[in-house]
Amino acid sequence: MPLVHLSHINKVYELDKTNIFQALKDVNLSIDKGEFVAITGPSGSGKSTLMNLLGLLDKPSSGSYDLDGHDVAHLKEATLAELRNKKIGFVFQNFNLLARTSALENVALPLIYAGVSRTERLRRAESVLKELGLGDKLQSTPSQLSGGQQQRVAIARALVTNPEVLLADEPTGNLDSKTGAEMIELFHSLHKKGRTIILITHDPAIANNAKRVIKVKDGEIVK
Ligand SMILES: Nc1ncnc2c1ncn2[C@@H]1O[C@H](COP(=O)(O)OP(=O)(O)OP(=O)(O)O)[C@@H](O)[C@H]1O
Ligand SMILES: [Mg+2]
Repeated sequence: MPLVHLSHINKVYELDKTNIFQALKDVNLSIDKGEFVAITGPSGSGKSTLMNLLGLLDKPSSGSYDLDGHDVAHLKEATLAELRNKKIGFVFQNFNLLARTSALENVALPLIYAGVSRTERLRRAESVLKELGLGDKLQSTPSQLSGGQQQRVAIARALVTNPEVLLADEPTGNLDSKTGAEMIELFHSLHKKGRTIILITHDPAIANNAKRVIKVKDGEIVK
């Protein structure tokens, strides 16, 4: 059974009372546990729309979505939020870290919603930060870190809950090419440790680092 299975997914945005925009058209997609997949395509092709659905941040207009054996297309927001917190680790282009908050506290944050005690939260956050080479930056705030270090803190925060899937939307978008390449190396090493990674990027050169590349064009998956 695939980890992610989308079947005949459509996503329609209602622009106003009379106009709609169909951002995804009959998307069928399966991703297995442990895969390293890139989703690529030009600006406006529907990558972020697809990521929002995959990450349970939005619901499809029609079609079915099975995530790790759960039928998630029609769940209530509260249940979606719970599954999202348990199953998905998000990484964004802008890192989305809390300013004036230490790396350690940023990474520990998702564990609050998982009901983990403070001592245990800090212990796990420290362990993931060390794994990502940031053991000497635990108390640094985002403004005291380089872009690449901030993105590694964001990746640590995504991993601290031990999610089934790491979902990264343009994670190298704000990094210079050398730091971007280091980020890709990090994804490779996480993949080798068994993580499932879905990397979303408009950049074909970045996408080609993944084991499998899925191309999106005008809301459709193209071969
Ligand atoms: N909330 C929304 N309401 C209406 N239209 C939307 C909405 N979000 C996205 N769209 C439209 O859906 C299409 C796909 O947008 P999406 O953000 O998924 O593209 P993308 O592939 O991520 O682009 P980029 O590479 O620029 O991030 C675009 O034409 C966009 O204008
Ligand atoms: Mg996008």
